Amino acid sequence: MLEIVFSDGKIGPKAVKIIGVSENAKLTSEALTAEELKLVKKAVAQAGFYGKKGSFVEVFGSSGKIIVAGLGEKPDALALQNLGGALVKKLFKDCVACYYVEEIKGCKLSLEEIAHNIAFGLMIGSYRFDKYFTKKKQEEYPSLEQVIFKVRNPADVSDNFKDFAALSNAVRYARDLCNEPSNYLTPEVFADDIKRLEYLDLDVEILGQKELEEKEFNMLLSVAQGSSKEPRVAIIKWHGNPDFDGWDCGLVGKGVTFDSGGISIKPANGMWDMKGDMTGAAVVVSSLKALALQKAPLNVIGIVGLVENMPSGTATRPGDIVSSMSGQTVEILNTDAEGRLVLGDCLWYVQENFGVSRLIDVATLTGATMRALGSEYAGIFSNDDKMADALIKAGEQTGEKLWRLPMNDAYNKMIDSDIADMKNIGGANAGGSTAACFLGRFVKKDCAWSHLDIAGVDKEEKGTPLCPKGATAFGVRVLNKYLRTL
Ligand code: BES
Ligand code: MN
Ligand code: ZN
Repeated sequence: MLEIVFSDGKIGPKAVKIIGVSENAKLTSEALTAEELKLVKKAVAQAGFYGKKGSFVEVFGSSGKIIVAGLGEKPDALALQNLGGALVKKLFKDCVACYYVEEIKGCKLSLEEIAHNIAFGLMIGSYRFDKYFTKKKQEEYPSLEQVIFKVRNPADVSDNFKDFAALSNAVRYARDLCNEPSNYLTPEVFADDIKRLEYLDLDVEILGQKELEEKEFNMLLSVAQGSSKEPRVAIIKWHGNPDFDGWDCGLVGKGVTFDSGGISIKPANGMWDMKGDMTGAAVVVSSLKALALQKAPLNVIGIVGLVENMPSGTATRPGDIVSSMSGQTVEILNTDAEGRLVLGDCLWYVQENFGVSRLIDVATLTGATMRALGSEYAGIFSNDDKMADALIKAGEQTGEKLWRLPMNDAYNKMIDSDIADMKNIGGANAGGSTAACFLGRFVKKDCAWSHLDIAGVDKEEKGTPLCPKGATAFGVRVLNKYLRTL
């Protein structure tokens, strides 16, 4: 993995020199010799470079490669992260590079923040999922090994990078889990992996088939019963504030390791994508990992429901009625609306047993929300304006944007059943809102709750500077930002 170093020492001659320039700013840098500066100025003029966001000029001086990176008008943290990500490609065939951290005109961030954000972009942007290639040639792999950030106070900058390094680790871990195919990442394997996180002083409890029956996770079990793979529920606790014996927040994640739709089976086209139907769980687990690595001074409890949704002779039939842990009965009219069943019992369990009064669930829940928002925003549904606003703000700051969608009595009524307390699908329309209302029936009155529907944003179709094609782990950054400002 790419190594990040902060240094004020002499930089070796082999390192590619990188400098960032905002739009129409004067080109000066202590990093360049007078001769290099002349060369760079000439190249910049020839290329018509003026610092536009995402533009680059590369120069080969007598001492090696120099990259001038355009940062746009008023570069913020996200612009700098994107620069870091873009550098991954620019430096693909180089071994070592040095970013000279200097003031950027129009940028409000401190030198330390500039270094941190570019480095974070490099770390998550260089993520690759390549463990299943057996024939890939050496030259297809990046040669970049180390990026040095030249700063005046490297010890402090390095110390303070800890939170970003933790977050990058968590994002990469979540992407690994989500990219893993369902034949490897079964509920049992997923649970074992979560259990390993105890080395970070997280407290992990795994509930197996028998315990789930005893504790009456009946909706969750009804999803699992068609599969030959046993379900698991993992409860993960981070106790970072010993002076408080309650929980600052609870997190709930949908961990359907494969969603075939069950007896209400999905069409073949694109069904493979449903290996990522456990992204919510990966995001919750990774969020707790991030807090533990950061040694964050707060108490957070996570719960994830891990099941496989398959059709078989033992599968739940459309029309079946199940009595949930909460006691409310549910008519299952479509076995493909399984995520809400898994989440409903998990939401109830964590409130009943741990008394959380703030709760966020994360799930690839509905195609309807994906249709509405595409890959630009995740949907947020909430019973608490303050919480929703804080999450939306955290989303803007981290680039994981949230758009609030409605819940009300009319949507809620749409899931009333003729013969049970509720049914698990609404009508043809407003599918994101009726799904949220279903979850809302498992949230107690005094609990501030938000539901993040990440169905459209869990996967990157083309690849961006900060994320290659595949799993995005959307949610880890916004949740960390939100939790760290509680
Ligand atoms: N996991 C899917 C939702 C999904 C769709 C996620 C596309 C990512 C991409 C979920 O379990 C599902 O199948 N939802 C159904 C609900 C419907 C049957 C009420 C849907 O949205 O079509
Ligand atoms: Mn489904
Ligand atoms: Zn699903």
